[in-house]
Amino acid sequence: MTEAGETTVPFIGAPNLDTPDTPLFALRSEWLRGDNSPDADVDVRMHPLTLRFDDKDLESEFEEEYFHRTLIPVRWAVIVGLCLYSVYGIVDFWLAPEQRPQIWLIRYAIVAPACLLCLGFTFTRHFRKYKDLAVSLMILIALLGVIAITSIIPQPMGSLYDVGLFMVIVYAFTLVRLPVPYAFGISALTLAIYPLAAFTVHQTSTAVVGSNISFLIGMIVLGFSSNYSMGRYSRSNFLQRRLISLRTDELERKNSELVMKNQMLAESRAANIRTAKRTEQIFSALAEALPGHILDEKYRIGEKIGSGGFGTVYRGEHIFLHHPVAIKVFRPAVGQEGADSLDRFRLEGISACRVNHPNAVTVLDFDVSGGSLAYLVMALLEGHSLAQQLRTEGPLSTTRAAEIGLAVCDALAQAHSAGIVHRDIKPSNVFLHGTNGDAVVKVIDFGIAKLTDESQVPGAEGMTLSGMFLGTPAYMAPERVFNLPYDGRSDVYAVGVMLFEMVAGRLPFEQTVGGHLSLMRMHAVEEPPALTKFVPDAHPKLESAVITAMRKEPEQRPTAAQLGATLRELLQELRAPGRTRRASDLQRD
Ligand SMILES: Nc1ncnc2c1ncn2[C@@H]1O[C@H](COP(=O)(O)OP(=O)(O)OP(=O)(O)O)[C@@H](O)[C@H]1O
Ligand SMILES: [Mg+2]
Repeated sequence: MTEAGETTVPFIGAPNLDTPDTPLFALRSEWLRGDNSPDADVDVRMHPLTLRFDDKDLESEFEEEYFHRTLIPVRWAVIVGLCLYSVYGIVDFWLAPEQRPQIWLIRYAIVAPACLLCLGFTFTRHFRKYKDLAVSLMILIALLGVIAITSIIPQPMGSLYDVGLFMVIVYAFTLVRLPVPYAFGISALTLAIYPLAAFTVHQTSTAVVGSNISFLIGMIVLGFSSNYSMGRYSRSNFLQRRLISLRTDELERKNSELVMKNQMLAESRAANIRTAKRTEQIFSALAEALPGHILDEKYRIGEKIGSGGFGTVYRGEHIFLHHPVAIKVFRPAVGQEGADSLDRFRLEGISACRVNHPNAVTVLDFDVSGGSLAYLVMALLEGHSLAQQLRTEGPLSTTRAAEIGLAVCDALAQAHSAGIVHRDIKPSNVFLHGTNGDAVVKVIDFGIAKLTDESQVPGAEGMTLSGMFLGTPAYMAPERVFNLPYDGRSDVYAVGVMLFEMVAGRLPFEQTVGGHLSLMRMHAVEEPPALTKFVPDAHPKLESAVITAMRKEPEQRPTAAQLGATLRELLQELRAPGRTRRASDLQRD
């Protein structure tokens, strides 16, 4: 039973048998659960006899709905009753020709007009309130009509008309959809009036009266059963429809909420893109204007060397020490303009980028100028990046590739042991420092990908526009494609890709029409092609170094130090005196 004031949540279901509120509810048992029984786990219960819901509001909602849904069937039922009563007038010609005028008076002057009146009443607004009374009254008149007809016709013919009583009972219980109490009332009156009339007026034999009464009782039982199952069916059907409509409303509400959220998301994305574009324009203008300016009274900014995804690199000079430096001025990332994020930037900057190793560029300083312009000062390198070298001169010899790979691994091993992951190993971040043949390999941009934006994925040769674009993920380890936690092994994967590229002159996975996503998918699931496919006489040690470094599972890859050791062995073998040289060894040696 629902507490007063508590919102009723209608659920489909059979009565809850555990919490009886009235003695009748205590009578509930399994027999109540039939084909039409609602499901279990419910909050709404029906009275086991009257089938009324235990929730008053729900009951009146059902009655209202049921009345409107059954109004037309009830009208048809009244018409059917009228027709039956009228059509059976034909049998009066044979069964009671002498009493026909009186019988017809009853049929056509009393009962039929009562039916018509009731039919007319169904079209008035009062019918909603007095439906059961009006219909019961009509049936009562029909019942008394039958009794009167049987009283007029002498026995034994009169008994034939007793059949009318059975029809009245079935009619009351079924077609006109009377509630159980009304149908029972009519049946009780029939059971009371019939024997009275039979004994006092018709002089019917006791045996016939007894048999008719037992048939009448049988009719009442049948009528009640069909009335009861119809009632249960209508009510459970009502609950189901109500539940479906509630769920539909809920779904529609959620759907419109989702649409709204999507709209807001699209708007905020558009706003972000606008901001990013504006920031980019401002930064480009600033980048052009910066040369000649002095940063934090320490560094004079000189000519621009180049721009990448995270900012612009300039030549510069330390004003007091007069030594040359390279200054990387970071492009402000959308969403990172806040004081907190700049503080984090300042705090993490130097530690994330500084690796003390001869093969890593020396980072000298890191700061945020004027409260918003982050910059990194490093040793100025002369020469060009590995990317430029590959672009202009094509694939390298196995020896040179191994030398570069080894230097990168050495720097990485040192960084990894200090807890610094590069995150963006690619040829443009490997600098060949020195103008003559003995160029020293310097890894640049340690940890910068982490500093600028956790969410962006720095890519390969292509653009890595901060906060907006993903660069070509040509060096991306599978765990990064899947956005899983990663460590130094994803740098090792990138070294594997780079080794392949250095000797083969192409990437193991190249971008196809599928764009970035297809490239990422290849890194995630496809086996890389054999190096020998592009370099037929590739050294087996180099090939195995590439294969192991590019394993999908990070745990199965060597560490940077292990990969470095393999490359060192390879170099020793390649440099061993008297060794027969392969064609690939000679390439650009
Ligand atoms: N310390 C340095 N000395 C001299 N040149 C440098 C130094 N650091 C970077 N450069 C050069 O500056 C240019 C811009 O470098 P930057 O790192 O911004 O771009 P990138 O590596 O192409 O892209 P990304 O932003 O994805 O790393 C490159 O040509 C790079 O070789
Ligand atoms: Mg770079």
